[in-house]
Amino acid sequence: MIQAFVTQIYNKPLAAPKILRPLSNKLLEDVENLLASDEVGHKWSDKNYVSGYTSYGSVDKLHLVLPNFKKLEQTLEIHLKNYLSSLEYDIKASDLYLSHCWVNVMPEGAQHSAHIHPLSVISGTVYLQLPKGSSPIKFEDPRLGFFMNSPLPKESAKMANKRFLSLKPKEGDVVLFESWLRHEVPQNTTQEPRISVSFNYGWKKD
Ligand code: NI
Repeated sequence: MIQAFVTQIYNKPLAAPKILRPLSNKLLEDVENLLASDEVGHKWSDKNYVSGYTSYGSVDKLHLVLPNFKKLEQTLEIHLKNYLSSLEYDIKASDLYLSHCWVNVMPEGAQHSAHIHPLSVISGTVYLQLPKGSSPIKFEDPRLGFFMNSPLPKESAKMANKRFLSLKPKEGDVVLFESWLRHEVPQNTTQEPRISVSFNYGWKKD
C-alpha cells in the first residue's frame, strides 16, 4: 500500500532527565511569577481564555525577556531540526526563527477551542505539568471538509486512518506540528492545573 499526503506530528522528551528537571522547575517558577504579576495577561485571558491564564495576549516573546525561556529555545533547536528533516522541507532550520513563545495555565474547567496558528510555519508545545487525567491535545484530519460521502473509520482502525488524534504527551515532552494543522484542548477536568509553554516558528526575514 502506498501512503501519500501524510500528516506528521512530532512527540519526544524535551531533554534527558538531568537537563529537563532543573529547566522545567525554573520554567514553572517563571509561570508562577507571571501568574502573580501579569495583570494585562489576566485581563486578556478573562476575555479570550475563559477559566485559564495565558500570556499570549501580554508577553508572547518570553524567550526574549526571560533567560529560562531562552534556554528552552536552545533546547528546542535539535527537535526542530529533526522534525524538518522528517518533513523533508527544502529549507534549513536557520531559515526559521522562534517568533512567539508563551505560557498556558489551564485549571479545572478551562478549554481551548479548535484553532490553527496563522502566519507561522511550525508550532509546538512543551508540557511542564500534566496532572493524571488532564486533557490531551486533539488534532483533526486536515481533509475533514472533503470527506462528503466517505464512511467513518472503524473504532478499531489504526491511527493513520482515523479522523482525530487525541495525543497524551508525557510531562517534559515536546510536541511539534505544522502550524496549519487544526487542534484543540478539550475541557480540563483535573483539580491541579495543566501547564504548558507554546511557541511558533516563522520565516526569518532578510
Ligand atoms: Ni494551538
